[in-house]
Amino acid sequence: MAKKDSKEDEEIQEDVQEETQEEISTNSVSITPDEYVDIKDLPGVGSAVASRLKSAGYLDVIALATANPLVVSEVCEIGEPTSRKIIAEAREAAKMNFLSGLEFEDKRKSVQRISTGSQAFDILLGGGVESQSITECYGEYGSGKSQLAFELAVNVQLPREKGGLEGHAIWIDTEGTFRPARIEQLAVAKGLDPKEALQNIKIGRAYSSDHQMLLIDKVPDLINKDSKIKLVVVDSMMALFRAEYIGRGTLADRQQKLNVILHNLQRIADRFNVAVYMTNQVMARPDVLFGDPTVAVGGHIIGHVATYRIYLRKGKKGARVAKLVDSPSLPEGEVTFQITAEGIKDVEEEGKRK
Ligand SMILES: Nc1ncnc2c1ncn2[C@@H]1O[C@H](COP(=O)(O)OP(=O)(O)OP(=O)(O)O)[C@@H](O)[C@H]1O
Ligand SMILES: [Mg+2]
Repeated sequence: MAKKDSKEDEEIQEDVQEETQEEISTNSVSITPDEYVDIKDLPGVGSAVASRLKSAGYLDVIALATANPLVVSEVCEIGEPTSRKIIAEAREAAKMNFLSGLEFEDKRKSVQRISTGSQAFDILLGGGVESQSITECYGEYGSGKSQLAFELAVNVQLPREKGGLEGHAIWIDTEGTFRPARIEQLAVAKGLDPKEALQNIKIGRAYSSDHQMLLIDKVPDLINKDSKIKLVVVDSMMALFRAEYIGRGTLADRQQKLNVILHNLQRIADRFNVAVYMTNQVMARPDVLFGDPTVAVGGHIIGHVATYRIYLRKGKKGARVAKLVDSPSLPEGEVTFQITAEGIKDVEEEGKRK
């Protein structure tokens, strides 16, 4: 019996090793090819040191460039002068320089936008949902968060003159609410081939927050294989975290994991020039006496990372109200739109006024 147990243990061990290997290779592609330097190619790092660094968690040059030489020396059992030297080389290779204002402006010029389907909503967002940014939509159930995700996943495929990027999408589904039929319905309404539209969306169903993390780690790999991917949807960001981390004792752990996921998403948006759209749930805050007591879950971390935060709520006569609550350069504002069988549309008279 004991023997069988230990055999099983060995098998588990192997599985874990395999998984770790895979993680290393997917993590290392999170750097775009032109910037990519493998740790083992740094001057002074042989393959033996490289594998020690990688098993200690220093998977790419950025991780090494920002590491503490004393810690690296101790954890990887290499002399301190050596660790200082290879960190310096990593910094050089990672080109951790500042961009000039002009270079930054150039980078901003490559920003692309995906239409929401409503002109008023697009104007609120400065022209649509933006690449190189994370756009977060929060609101109560049925407010239209997932509907906007369906809309974007179809619209991204449209030609540019129709508000698209002739692109493909990745969809990370944490609630099991992805509906192929809705994609097909929207595609037909917009003149796309419904089966092709579905084919152009890669769906990953996450069953736990760790699984969600792993799927997001795979995104760079998918984009390297399919450069037409221009949109990454996470619907919803917090559902699994909320279900798994109940009680305050585990909150710090949850926030730390969330932080890693969000920064990975931001890095993906930045490096691959894709739009990240995520949905988020709300909770009522009993301590808010005046105004709307609804706040997004996930704490301050999401608010800090999301470039655009939109609060969705149900309005009059089935309309929806979108409020831009946080944006780096746009004024706060509100618009109304409607959800129809053909997708998101302006409200006839009111939509374009604000
Ligand atoms: N085919 C359709 N035609 C018209 N309206 C639709 C259609 N499908 C969905 N809707 C509208 O969208 C609403 C559902 O919105 P959605 O699924 O985006 O909610 P959500 O904000 O994601 O909510 P949850 O928090 O439960 O995930 C429905 O209540 C309905 O009003
Ligand atoms: Mg939903």
